[in-house]
Amino acid sequence: MEIDYKKLVTEYRSKRFCILRDVINDDELDTILEFYNSLVKDDNGRHLEVKFGDINNNLEDSMIANLFRKISIIRVKVLSLSSNFMMHRNLSEDALEDEWERLMVEVMQKYGGWSRFMQYGKGHKFNAHKDAIGEVMAILHLSQPLTDYTGGLYVYHPETKKEECVDDMLNTKDLILCVSNYYMHRVDIKPLTKTGRLTYFVNFNPLSSEGAVFQGRMESLVNKLKA
Ligand SMILES: [Fe+2]
Repeated sequence: MEIDYKKLVTEYRSKRFCILRDVINDDELDTILEFYNSLVKDDNGRHLEVKFGDINNNLEDSMIANLFRKISIIRVKVLSLSSNFMMHRNLSEDALEDEWERLMVEVMQKYGGWSRFMQYGKGHKFNAHKDAIGEVMAILHLSQPLTDYTGGLYVYHPETKKEECVDDMLNTKDLILCVSNYYMHRVDIKPLTKTGRLTYFVNFNPLSSEGAVFQGRMESLVNKLKA
């Protein structure tokens, strides 16, 4: 997958969200769905958390682990390049992609962030809220808007005072990155199939306690890289 990071960063800076198209292929989608279907769901069937710890046993060869890492790397890259908060903004945007990737893999192996599948079916919704400062949603779509459901994630733009449904811009296998402290947001859907709205949601907040550890680690790695 070729990613034009500069373009993404520009998009992300201006809109506070950006969309990465087709971040996984059909085989990867099948794998992730198979994995999802093998998991025991909780009672309401909406939140299903999958932590890094759960996949540690076969971190090296599991396709899920690789996907997870891939999503996280993309997210860190975009977040890192675009955020004033992260100290390594001083690095040139032309920093070698290979070096960056190695750095991120190393960081992700140490970092205990979380991810979860989220499935919205009949009667499920999430009321309007904002998340903590620094929070960014990274949402990989595993079902098809307008085929599996209508509606989705609505974001309310604080300047234009307009609310828009981002799922209308998305397809299966697309990843959206969105600053969830900037937008009031909510989820409301009407399922059209049994699947409804199924996403894989990755989070790591640079201001959370885990994020502080992550950032410290990142700084020392960046210094190493610079040396
Ligand atoms: Fe949220």
